Amino acid sequence: MNVYDSARMADVLAPLGYASTDRAEDADMVILNTCHIREKAAEKVFSELGRLKTLQAAKAKTGSRMILAVAGCVAQAEGEEILRRAPFVDIVLGPQTYHRLPEMVAQAARAGGAVLDTEFPAEPKFDFLPEARAEGSSAFVSVQEGCDKFCTFCVVPYTRGAEYSRPAPAVLAEIGALAAQGVREITLLGQNVNAWNGGEAGWGLARLIGAIADLGTVERIRYTTSHPRDLDDQLIAAHAQIPQLMPFLHLPVQSGSDRILQAMNRGHDRDAYLRLVERLRRAQPDLALSSDFITGFPGESDADFAQTMALVRQVGFVQTYSFKYSPRPGTPAALMPDQVPEPVKEERLAQLQALLHQQTAAFNQACLGREMRVLLDRPGRHAGQLLGRSPYMQPVHVKAAAHLLGTVVPLRITAVHPNSLAAEPVDAGTS
Ligand code: 5AD
Ligand code: SF4
Repeated sequence: MNVYDSARMADVLAPLGYASTDRAEDADMVILNTCHIREKAAEKVFSELGRLKTLQAAKAKTGSRMILAVAGCVAQAEGEEILRRAPFVDIVLGPQTYHRLPEMVAQAARAGGAVLDTEFPAEPKFDFLPEARAEGSSAFVSVQEGCDKFCTFCVVPYTRGAEYSRPAPAVLAEIGALAAQGVREITLLGQNVNAWNGGEAGWGLARLIGAIADLGTVERIRYTTSHPRDLDDQLIAAHAQIPQLMPFLHLPVQSGSDRILQAMNRGHDRDAYLRLVERLRRAQPDLALSSDFITGFPGESDADFAQTMALVRQVGFVQTYSFKYSPRPGTPAALMPDQVPEPVKEERLAQLQALLHQQTAAFNQACLGREMRVLLDRPGRHAGQLLGRSPYMQPVHVKAAAHLLGTVVPLRITAVHPNSLAAEPVDAGTS
C-alpha cells in the first residue's frame, strides 16, 4: 500500500516539475512515507529524520533548500509529536490527504513554520489524483482502504480510518489506462481488499475481478490483503472460473489458537479458517497460500503457540510474514494483562519461522523441472538476464532476449536458489 501511495505522490508532484532521484543529497524535497504497524517501523522514522536533518543543514549552507515531509501512518498517528521532536520537518501529511501535496509544498515554500494535514477529508483523494503512470508491466491499484475490523493488536483502523471502496468505474478506468501503457498484471490493493463493494449494491470483489478479466488486456490479476471473514462464495468460485486470477492467495490467520483468535477479535476461529482453505483448494487445487502470524500476543501460552505450529503443518504455506507481537499505543491489546516476555516472543518466532522457511524451501524445491508462465517485468542484474514472478510470486531469472520484457513467457525451472528460481525458455523460438 505504501509503495502505491508513494507512486501516487510522485504522480501528484510531477506537474510541479519534481522527478524522483535515488540520491537524497540531490533532492529538493524528501518525503518519508511511513508505517506505524509495529514499533520498529515507527522508530525508524526518527532515526532517518536525524540523518536527513544533517543533509538539510548541509544543503542550507550552500544556499539551497531541501523540503522535508513525513507522510503515511506515523504522520497520521504522531503528527504533533513529529513536529515537536523534529522541528526542521516542513510538512506532515496523513495517508488521506496526499492529493493536497501541491498546496502544502507551495505553503511550505512560502511560510516559515510547518504544514500539518492529517485530516480525513470528506472528498476521497482518488477523485483528485492524476492518471496513474505505469512503471513496468505489473502495477498496484488501490481499490479499498481502511478497516472496520478492529483486531485488538492493530493500529490500521485508527490510522487509515473506516472501510472505503472506490467505485468500480474509477477502478476499471485506472486499470484500462495502465493496460494501455503496457501493464499486464494488476494487483488490487486494500487493507481488507475482499471487503470491497464498490460502494454499490450488486458489486463485490469477485465481480470486479471478472470485469477486469473481461477487459481482455490484463493477463494476470492478484489481490491483497484478504480477511477470512470477508471471503465469500463468489470469490472462492472466481478462483475456479477466472483463468487470469493467479493461484496465489495471501490470507492472514495470525494464530492457530481459538482462545487467542478470540482475544485478537479476529471474528473467525481455527476451524473456520481451515474450512475456507479446504474450499479454496477444491476450487483451485493449484492454490499456493501465504499468511501473516503474530507470536506472543498477550496471554499466549505454550499450548496456544503449539496450536499455531500445528495449523501451519496442517495447511502448508509457501510464503509468509511473521512478527512478534508489538504493543501499539491506543490499541486494546496493549493494555491487556499477561503480556508475554520478549525472550518468549522471540523464541516462538524463531521456531515458527524455522518451520515456515522449511515449507517455503520445500515448495520451491518441488518447482524444479516444472514449466510455468512467468511475467518478465525487469532486466536482471547480469547482461542478457530478465527477472519476473512465477504465478506463485517466486522471483524467477532467465537468460532471454530483451524484447520479451513485459511479456508472459513459458519457462522451465532449472535451479532453486535460496531467494529465487532460475529458468530457461521452454520454446526455442522465445529464447
Ligand atoms: N504486532 C505485531 N504484528 C502486527 N501486525 C499488525 N499489528 C501488529 C502488532 N501490533 C501484523 C499482522 C498483520 C500484518 C500486516 O502486520 O500480522 O496481518
Ligand atoms: Fe488490522 Fe487487518 Fe485486523 Fe484490520 S483486519 S484491524 S488491518 S489486522
